[in-house]
Amino acid sequence: MCGIVGYIGNNNCVPILIEGLKRLEYRGYDSAGIGIIDKNVSIIEKYKGKVSILEDNVYKKKLSATLGIGHTRWATHGEPNKINAHPHQNNDKDLFLIHNGIIENYQILKELLAKKGYKFYSQTDTEVLANLIDFHFKKTKDLFEGVRVALNEVEGAYGIAVISKKEPDKIVVAKKGSPLVIGVGRNENYIASDVNALIAHTSRVVYLEDDEVALITKDGFKARTIANHKLDKTIEEITVSADEITKGGYQHYMLKEIMEQPESVRNSLRGRLLEKEGISKLGGLQGFEDRIAQSDRIIISACGTSWHAALVGEYMIEEYAGIPVEVEYASEFRYRNPIINPNDTIFFISQSGETADTLAALKEAKKKGALVLGICNVVGSSIARASEAGVYIHAGPEIGVASTKAFTAQLSVLALITILLARKRRMSHMDGRKLVKEMDLIPDKIAKILTLNKKIEKLAEKFVNATNFLYLGRGYNFPVALEGALKLKEISYIHAEGYPAAEMKHGPIALIDENMPVVFIAPLDAVHEKVLSNIQEVKARKGKVIVIANELDKKVDKMADHVIKIPSTCPLLAPILNVIPLQLLAYHIAVKKGLNVDQPRNLAKSVTVE
Ligand code: M6R
Repeated sequence: MCGIVGYIGNNNCVPILIEGLKRLEYRGYDSAGIGIIDKNVSIIEKYKGKVSILEDNVYKKKLSATLGIGHTRWATHGEPNKINAHPHQNNDKDLFLIHNGIIENYQILKELLAKKGYKFYSQTDTEVLANLIDFHFKKTKDLFEGVRVALNEVEGAYGIAVISKKEPDKIVVAKKGSPLVIGVGRNENYIASDVNALIAHTSRVVYLEDDEVALITKDGFKARTIANHKLDKTIEEITVSADEITKGGYQHYMLKEIMEQPESVRNSLRGRLLEKEGISKLGGLQGFEDRIAQSDRIIISACGTSWHAALVGEYMIEEYAGIPVEVEYASEFRYRNPIINPNDTIFFISQSGETADTLAALKEAKKKGALVLGICNVVGSSIARASEAGVYIHAGPEIGVASTKAFTAQLSVLALITILLARKRRMSHMDGRKLVKEMDLIPDKIAKILTLNKKIEKLAEKFVNATNFLYLGRGYNFPVALEGALKLKEISYIHAEGYPAAEMKHGPIALIDENMPVVFIAPLDAVHEKVLSNIQEVKARKGKVIVIANELDKKVDKMADHVIKIPSTCPLLAPILNVIPLQLLAYHIAVKKGLNVDQPRNLAKSVTVE
């Protein structure tokens, strides 16, 4: 969603803000702006479109200041335009506010403020908040207090930063539901909605929790709760380096992240497989293993690609550990009053660890007394911190909006959890050893699949003008079909649907004609013959068949229009391999259509609003 940055110190904040915004652009990108204050001069610059437009303008104007805040927006209230872009100001135009989230009671607040004489020029909830803070600032004569008191009247989610010409030596920030991090420097401090914007400057950070508000000067910071209790916040060290968030010579982050998968999967497995014992070891679950293994039921909740990983997890855990698993969209779970028993374990999967629906579902599950565990990529993210325990997937920063390496790392971690539970329940030592050995081979097999990149690029050429796609798979590969379809629609805007292959005859078969490409995921597994029959059904209706098959599969060559042959592995791990050609296919189709694959329209990397 929106990105927030801020700086206070002795240097010119403008390049720091622009650089930070560029690093956050993947979170949201329909408009961008900065607000700066220096020696009684306050300036706002905001533009519709990408950060580069803002950048060109502020550099042309040679702006300079030692205090400033910046924002990239992903529209929620009001269309993307200059007026609705952040920062927003109070009516006196001496207070600037940037905001990530949604103020739910903004209409009521707006009416109350209008009665007091406030005027509104944008359609945003943020402008209402700027004036509410102004109102309380005038009453309390203290910016920090003004913000704190105002937030007591606010319902909804926010990560905010506020600066004022009347107190030009401070930034006030607050958080509820949207992430906010303070970067601690020497005689200078930073704020951001994401550590990616800070790592070029400092590795020392302080994470704000919900209902906390902090005052930042160039020499330090202090924090209180919104209810006015004093807080002692600890400074933490982050380990992500600036190099990890560059494109590394690739045309797009997405391609770089696809190509990184041998390494990212290796990192997700590193030190966690004990071959001799045939078990996995997950430090983050230490002390909880038996409780999880004895659960009556496991629920896995997530959104988007992470939800697809959860579906694969369901197949894995039920088959090998014999524990009933339910998978649920976090957005449904949070409002459904789900039945949760004390002996249930609930995993929440999230790459960003900031997805609002997943975080809200987690809080709901916690209230109901279940064991709540996180599977996250971003270290220190809200979901990771709100979980009782959990596992980091260690995929490294994922910047491309379409999730790729996080998915395969999530699957790797779910396989590790499966081995852990299965070995505690019903998997033999020998079977454990076999599986651990096979997992160890996965990174090299991914590397082999990636050598097919050029071939897949050529194949993509044939489908640039397709308007629909079907993706079909069975068992472990049904969620892979869903993920392949999601990748294609997200970045190429081609309508695509994933189905269990056998479901085709119950409806989607009506769509098949010579213009319909159908991608089958058909490894050599227990349902292979059945999938071959489904391929015949599509061919009989003149559909264009693309098959992801195993190297040893000879039968498929005669049936398909196009075959991508990849190494085989055991069914449980096959999704990790099978999804890679689908990522590449979606990527190349989108590039050939001339689309911006890293920042597809209407999407944001981390969905921090409902
Ligand atoms: O950060 P999360 O894993 O919680 O994000 C969940 C979804 O928003 C995310 O997977 C989304 O579907 C991606 N754009 C998929 O490529």
